[in-house]
Amino acid sequence: MQFYMPTKIYSENNCVKNHGKELAALGTKALIVTGKHSSRANGSLYDVTDALDNNHIPYCIFDEIEENPSVELAVRAADFGKQEQADFVIGIGGGSPLDASKAIALLIKNPEYDGSVFYQKIPLDAVPVAAVPTTAGTGSEATPYAILTRHDKQTKQSIAHKIFPKLALADSRYLISAPVFVRANTAVDALSHLLESYLNNNASDYSRMLCDYALRLFSSVKDALLEESRGNASSDPEFFEHLMTVSTIAGMAISHTGTSLPHGMSYFITYHHGVPHGKAVGTFLEKYLENCPDHDSVSHLLKIMGFSSIRELKEFLRQVLGEVSLTENEVRTYTDGMMANKAKLANCPYDVDYEMMYRMFYDSVKISG
Ligand SMILES: [Fe+2]
Repeated sequence: MQFYMPTKIYSENNCVKNHGKELAALGTKALIVTGKHSSRANGSLYDVTDALDNNHIPYCIFDEIEENPSVELAVRAADFGKQEQADFVIGIGGGSPLDASKAIALLIKNPEYDGSVFYQKIPLDAVPVAAVPTTAGTGSEATPYAILTRHDKQTKQSIAHKIFPKLALADSRYLISAPVFVRANTAVDALSHLLESYLNNNASDYSRMLCDYALRLFSSVKDALLEESRGNASSDPEFFEHLMTVSTIAGMAISHTGTSLPHGMSYFITYHHGVPHGKAVGTFLEKYLENCPDHDSVSHLLKIMGFSSIRELKEFLRQVLGEVSLTENEVRTYTDGMMANKAKLANCPYDVDYEMMYRMFYDSVKISG
């Protein structure tokens, strides 16, 4: 059993400002990696640039990260960073910019390689990465994973290199301005991380301890998430703090176990149908639990989340996420794809044959066409 969590994490209001010196100490010029809008709307970008200005560290900004960033986009951002002679990367935003930052940091450190190195198992370092999460779902600030869209394989896949951020600055106030549907999706992503980490062949007492704590905390936010799905947006600071804590702890948990079937299954419907990541993984949680023969663990998980049954969990997920539609042909194609995903199958604590996988897809979605 081992526990490895090398990221220094500050989770508090104003943490970017309070720990700006540590952020600035990561290098001599920063490449800030973010999207076009949200980091400006929630103020996180300005907090970071103020912290760098106050500590006399120059920076350049790449703000073109879109949802589910591709290998090609990460290469383009890294080219920009190299040209600007940046020697550390600050990712600001949801999972997309944070994951991209890790891949970009790898290429900046190793300019002799192109994007094909992302999926080659060569031991390589990256320049330092700092992560400023502005959604509570991915937990990327506390994981070594960087998931990119691979157009060559028509799916999403984590790069082969493990890159933990050196520093994570998690200020839950950045969540307040996020749209309600983003909060719902990202919260379910964090929930999926916890359930897939707990029910996982790599789980240990350490990783289960993290899941246990965070799932109990999740039980305190689920009513507010339901209310938000009915149009009553929350303004309770404790709600946002708990969402952020759940997400970061879930990141620590999957750092040790990886994710399993719901994540593997989700990548097809995100790539081919544009379904947001949290909704895509949440679609398959019910069946992941239902097929698990370890009924004691499943009962324990339901109890600490505050659900009386898998059915109640399913109704909660439907209410906050809505449904996904697939055709029978698509179900068959994605079943084939999942049966070839040895890594995700290996993490699943029960055997899955073709028929079970087909049923998991088929019974989790609305069949159309
Ligand atoms: Fe996820």
